[in-house]
Amino acid sequence: MSGELNGKVIVLTGGADGIGRECATAYAREGAVVALLDRDEEKAHSAAKQLGPDAIAVQVDVSDGPGVKAAMETVVARFGKIDAVHNNAGVASPSKPVHETEETEWDQLMRVNVKSVYWTTRYAFAALSASRGAILNTASMVGLIGQENHAAYVATKGAMISLTKAMALDYAPRGIRVNAVCPAGVWTPMIEKWCDEQPEPARIRQYLDVIHPLGTCPHGDVIADAAVFLLSSRSRFITGCILPVSGGAELGYKR
Ligand SMILES: NC(=O)c1ccc[n+]([C@@H]2O[C@H](COP(=O)([O-])OP(=O)(O)OC[C@H]3O[C@@H](n4cnc5c(N)ncnc54)[C@H](O)[C@@H]3O)[C@@H](O)[C@H]2O)c1
Repeated sequence: MSGELNGKVIVLTGGADGIGRECATAYAREGAVVALLDRDEEKAHSAAKQLGPDAIAVQVDVSDGPGVKAAMETVVARFGKIDAVHNNAGVASPSKPVHETEETEWDQLMRVNVKSVYWTTRYAFAALSASRGAILNTASMVGLIGQENHAAYVATKGAMISLTKAMALDYAPRGIRVNAVCPAGVWTPMIEKWCDEQPEPARIRQYLDVIHPLGTCPHGDVIADAAVFLLSSRSRFITGCILPVSGGAELGYKR
């Protein structure tokens, strides 16, 4: 692919590390201007610097409504438009069943993973309507098939998937497409942390390779390639799509 996103202005949350950083690199490679919204100011600035002179980093916690509003205003003031919002920032801890999850932990997961989509949509909506743009959500296979010992996180990803469908219907008349990618496992700082929270981290690392029939647990480049497609005009008639980028992890019983 080359030039698939020429001239587009893409707001990417959680773009300083992990999957988001891979997506940022791919978007810039394809000709987009990327605005990285991340709570980690240092990493976001360093990532933006590597993307080239046009990329910007905005330090914001995506669960903070006024912060997201200000960030969107900054992007529009700088670039004059927004063609796409990629809701990618997320947190995965704690890894617990519901009854062991503290209320503060539950609320934090919901605020960062789900309410953030509400904030970015509210505050980028005028710009996205003007550009007949696109929204992409990084959900997860766990939101489709479930996962043991990770209930609150699974609930947030299920909510993201439902929201993707609802928003796709609501915004289709305005020409705004809304899609989601569902990774299974991807090597990032988040999954490393999750492995460390499991009773047998070494065994879980092996398990992450084994669950992907197409081979090993991937890096974020595979998600980035799917994301480029879903934000490019090649997917212009695709909306409400919940796309597994999972190496077949969810396909049936295995021996
Ligand atoms: N890694 C996986 O195996 C995997 C699998 C399925 C889905 N996902 C999803 O992919 C997305 C990215 O995950 P990752 O593995 O790259 O995570 P990561 O922790 O490696 O990177 C997440 C990035 O988001 C930022 N971030 C976190 N909370 C934020 C907040 N409140 N406000 C602003 N920025 C914030 C972090 O600073 C970091 O730059 C998440 O939504 C995650 O749920 C990941």
